[in-house]
Formats: sequence, C-alpha cells, structure tokens
Amino acid sequence: MTTLDSTVDYDVLIPNNVALASDARVRRGLERWHPGYIDWWMDMGPDGFQTSDVYLRTAVRVESKGADKWAVFDYVKMPDYRWGILLAPQDPDRKIPFGRHVGEPAWQEVPGEYRAMLRRLIVIQGDTEPASVEQQRFLGKTAPSLYDMRNLFQVNVEEGRHLWAMVYLLQKYFGRDGREEAGELLRRRSGSDDAPRMLGAFNEETPDWLSFFLFTFFTDRDGRMQLESLAQSGFDPLSRTCRFMLTEEAFHMFVGETGVTRIVQRTCEAMREAGIDDPTDVEAVRALGVIDLPTIQKKVNLHYSLTLDLFGSELSTNSANFFNAGLKGRFREHRLDDDHRLHKATYGIPEPSNGAWKTVEHPALNALNARLRDDFTGDCSLGVGRWNKTIRQAGVDFEITLPHVAFHRQIGVYRDLHATPDGEIVPEDEWTRRRHEWLPDDGDRAFIESLMNPEFRPGHYASWIAEPRIRINHKPGDFEWVKLAEA
Ligand SMILES: [Fe+2]
Ligand SMILES: [Fe+2]
Repeated sequence: MTTLDSTVDYDVLIPNNVALASDARVRRGLERWHPGYIDWWMDMGPDGFQTSDVYLRTAVRVESKGADKWAVFDYVKMPDYRWGILLAPQDPDRKIPFGRHVGEPAWQEVPGEYRAMLRRLIVIQGDTEPASVEQQRFLGKTAPSLYDMRNLFQVNVEEGRHLWAMVYLLQKYFGRDGREEAGELLRRRSGSDDAPRMLGAFNEETPDWLSFFLFTFFTDRDGRMQLESLAQSGFDPLSRTCRFMLTEEAFHMFVGETGVTRIVQRTCEAMREAGIDDPTDVEAVRALGVIDLPTIQKKVNLHYSLTLDLFGSELSTNSANFFNAGLKGRFREHRLDDDHRLHKATYGIPEPSNGAWKTVEHPALNALNARLRDDFTGDCSLGVGRWNKTIRQAGVDFEITLPHVAFHRQIGVYRDLHATPDGEIVPEDEWTRRRHEWLPDDGDRAFIESLMNPEFRPGHYASWIAEPRIRINHKPGDFEWVKLAEA
C-alpha cells in the first residue's frame, strides 16, 4: 500500500501525517491545546530529568520501508520530544468488518447516530494514556539502571503521544465538545479525590519498579487488547490511529516482560550462588538483596486482578452496542472466521455451582468483554510461561501462575464472590483473614521499597535485577542511555 501519508511532516509545531497544514481549524485547536499539554508534562510527567538527554525513539514514518525504519533513535530532552499525530496509511477500499453494517465502506466521518458512543470510547482510551505517566512519575529517581530509566521515559513519552492521538480525533471530529473533552483529559489526575482518572487501575500507585514492570506487562497489555479491538473500528480514523499506536505499544510490553524476567533471573542466580534450594524461604532469599519468588507471585496476583477489572463486566450491553454499531470489534476480528454479527452465537463464562465451576453459555454479543479478557489471559500466559522457563533453567522449583479470573475482582460477575487464587470460593471472613497469603502486605511493600536504590552508573544494575540480554538498538553494555544533567 503506497500512500502519500506514510511520512511525517516535522517542519511544523505539531509533527503529523494528516495534512494539518491545510486544516486551519484543527491546527489552531491543537496549537491552543499544546501549551496546556506541556504544562501537564512538566507538572505530572517524570519528576526531575527534564533537562537530561535521553536516548529516545521517535517515529518518523508510520511504517518501515526497506532500509527506512519507522523510527529513529537520538538523544532528546523529554520536553523537546516531538509529540505528533500519526495515523496508519488509509486503505481506500476498507470495509466495516463486523456488526450490523458489516461489509459497508468504512466511515471517514462520524456517523451521527453513533456520535456519543464513539466519543465515549475515545475519551476512555484517551484518559488512560496520561494516567500511566502520572502513576510512574517518581520512578526515575529509583531507577535500577540508566537502561531501565531510558525505557521508562520511552514509555512515558509514547503514552504522551497516545494522548495526542486521541485528542486529535476529538478535536477533528467532535467540534466544541471534542475540545472540551480534550481539556478534561489534562484536568483529571491519577489518584485525585475530586477529578480522578476514569478507570480504577489507573488511580492505583506505581510505587516501585516491580510494580512498573508488572503494570507494563499486564495493564499496557490490556491497552493493547483495547487498541486491537478499536483498530477494527468501522470509523476509519480511529482504526488508523490505533493501528499506529500498536506499533509503539509492543515496546511497552517488551519492557514489562523482560523486566520481570530479569528480576526472576537475578533471584534464581542469587539463590544458587548462596546454595538456597527452597524458594519459599523468604527471609533467606531477601537477605541476598533480591526479590523472593512468592512475593513476585503476590504482585502478579494483584496486578493481574486489577487489570481484569479494566475489561468491564463480563456481561455488558454497552459492548454489545459498540459491536453492533461497528465501533469496537473483537481481538483481531479480521482473522476470525464467522459471520461477524454474532446474532446466534454464544460464549461460555465460568460460574460457580455447588462448590465447582461450570461454564454457562450466554449470547456472544453480551459476553464480548469476557471474550476479550480471555484473549488477554491467553496472551499473558505466554509471557508467564517464559518467566517460568527462566526459573526452570536456573534449577529452581517454583512456578508463577495467573490466579483464577474470580480472584480479587471489584467489577463484573465475580465481584461479590470471595475466591482464592485457585478458584475456591471461601467465606468472606476466611478470605479477609488469608488475604495476605495472596496479596502483598505492608511488609512486602516495605521490603521491595528498601531495594529501590538508584543505580545511575553506566553499565551497572541494582542488586535485584539482571543485566538485559538484548539491548535497545544494539547498543553496547556500558552505553549511557541517559546523560544526567548536572544537579
Ligand atoms: Fe498508550
Ligand atoms: Fe502503553
């Protein structure tokens, strides 16, 4: 597909491949939004380091063509990062892939009857992007290496760009109320009492680097699932926007998966060096200055269950409406082989029955959230399998597992149940009493925090995390990923 819009115009205030130069109304709207965005970045973006030179990736086109890669790497001060508006190339023949309009030409303008629904989808997606930057803003100060610090900042600037992506759609296609929503996206704050972010997991803290890696592994992966289903949208500008965001998002999951792998690897190495065979001897393992595997399991339980809530209720008429309208599809809808309308289809959801779990069939249209959540779980399992391979190869007898979908849920059909990670339903008082067998307690948090000492020497890594095996852009081991500004 050769199109004019695959390269990005960088000779302007707002880099873009959407011909902003000839769209005065939208350009002015975005130029007015820009100073507020920079203020937000300085207030709520990474604390410190804003004058340091960071080796960052910047997208220069929306697809790689031969030797011309889609992104370039160079030292950039974060406030000078070129946040831009990049949409995947347009396919002029694209059809709506699902719902009641399946097979009709994709919409290039907002269909009037779906305007409110579409705006809501874009606002909810948009709200998560700045939220994660806010949650991660203090982590630079305790980075376990310059390499990890650089990766954190890369994720942060790209989440900032994803906010731009959603704000462009709001300003371009939703006029005045789009501009108002764009303003609100800068006003809400993660964890705020009076103007919190819209979704629960985005108001939780990310206090340490294990939390950060698990957040990028689980919660950015929820983001990926949402983007994959919005990339199917019959509203073509949204589809093209999400398709390009997915190109960037892959790195965020790489950071999460390899981050946890390196922690697990370091723990197992330290145990072997010290001759500790029992991974559940928490005291002995912690004395080595590494994170014991049972604590990692508790953190997995926490982040996984918080992230499952982001999929919304397993049974949802909203998501049926989004699907029928052709606005939000299933994960990789275009690869699925069915009628893409789902009028007669069913989907099974595990429900408790006499002390066991049985699968109950529901109309597939109402169970789209459950389906996307199951796709997510499948994808997570692959990564967890790779962590376990690292543990096995080190000769340690321990397996990290994903807890049962009913464990520790605040939203959806399981919210009133008290399930253990194994899926056993127990009385509420027993669950409360045993809670810290499964979820981190203050002592676990304090221990992890005690390890969060900065390691800013090039080529050095904190005691609890292994050196990466693959480095970004094939740079040498002692590469200075962040040139720290003089204090
Ligand atoms: Fe994002
Ligand atoms: Fe992300």
